[in-house]
Amino acid sequence: MYTPTPEDRFTFGLWTVGWQARDPFGDATRAPLDPVESVHRLAELGAYGVTFHDDDLLAVESDRAKAIENFKKALSETGLKVPMATTNLFTHPIFKDGGFTSNDRDVRRYALRKVIRNIDLAAELGATTYVCWGGREGAESDAAKDVRVALDRYKEGFDLLCQYVIDKGYDIRFAVEPKPNEPRGDILLPTIGHALAFINSLEHPEMVGLNPEVGHEQMAGMNFVHGIAQALWHGKLFHIDLNGQHGPRYDQDLVFGHGDVKSAFFLVDLLENGGYDGPRHFDYKPLRTEDKEDVWESAAANMRTYLILKEKSKAFRADPEVQEALVASKLTELAQPTVAEGETYDDVLAESIDVDEVAARGFHFTRLNQLAIEHLLGVRG
Ligand code: GCO
Ligand code: MN
Ligand code: MN
Repeated sequence: MYTPTPEDRFTFGLWTVGWQARDPFGDATRAPLDPVESVHRLAELGAYGVTFHDDDLLAVESDRAKAIENFKKALSETGLKVPMATTNLFTHPIFKDGGFTSNDRDVRRYALRKVIRNIDLAAELGATTYVCWGGREGAESDAAKDVRVALDRYKEGFDLLCQYVIDKGYDIRFAVEPKPNEPRGDILLPTIGHALAFINSLEHPEMVGLNPEVGHEQMAGMNFVHGIAQALWHGKLFHIDLNGQHGPRYDQDLVFGHGDVKSAFFLVDLLENGGYDGPRHFDYKPLRTEDKEDVWESAAANMRTYLILKEKSKAFRADPEVQEALVASKLTELAQPTVAEGETYDDVLAESIDVDEVAARGFHFTRLNQLAIEHLLGVRG
């Protein structure tokens, strides 16, 4: 019943199942994983596609051409798609002060070349979204980065990449992935809101949207569901990174739903009913404690949890008591324009109400929230 199929459009980064579980305090606990094996295992589990950083392809084969050939062969054998690709501008020491915004101009130019090379491959593989996560674009000291100037360089980078895509005639849009910190002390474009504002200042804002990640907003104490709703409202939800996080702390990249499960429920409800039609992309890390078989258990868990929450969301909306509670809580009234068609501010000004009477009205949100909790806990529907 909760078995995923390609129609569900679940996708995984090669770097997720392939994570060797190295952390700042400890060595890898798992061996490198061949991308070819990942493609086959993900296809067997019912995934729709895979995504990758340029360097992920080199996990076991160091010859780039050979690695690409092996990857392509696995894709054609399994039918797995590549809807998105991205660039690693964070692992190599050259990126220690950033890629597009490094204080060192040689680094910035090298970063652009590295991205462009992989955009060509992304286009060849049919990817339509190119993610840019600027994990090293930032600083530990406010003396070390002139943020206004760094943003000029960031914009310069995106403007150049958009022009490249236009000139090549590629069907690709960029998706900025915000994150507040880690690995840098402070990262530029730290939240969905910062990134949306930045995109508006670009030469081709229509070509750039967002790839928000659950845990990244929650690290900053933000409500991810609200952030996604606003991204949708702006028409900027180009892609999404689903995972789990327990509030403000280091980036946990847990299995989807293994963090704030209530927020995950409302997120699935929003994605399924809010007009998002992109892939459901998991960007998580199998726990460091897990062995090579547990990795696939964790990959499957992401998809299964999503499908369970999708069913819960359907049952929640179909419940007559919920429908009645939504009306009682005036959700339908919120959808009504404040000033009706044909009215002006004169009509608003001419009106008077009994302020105390209106102030005394309750909104009955507790009942609505409890209904959601009961659906989530499986005692209704
Ligand atoms: C993180 C980031 C990364 C990026 C990925 C795409 O967990 O901090 O999400 O996983 O999404 O590198 O560039
Ligand atoms: Mn993350
Ligand atoms: Mn991510």
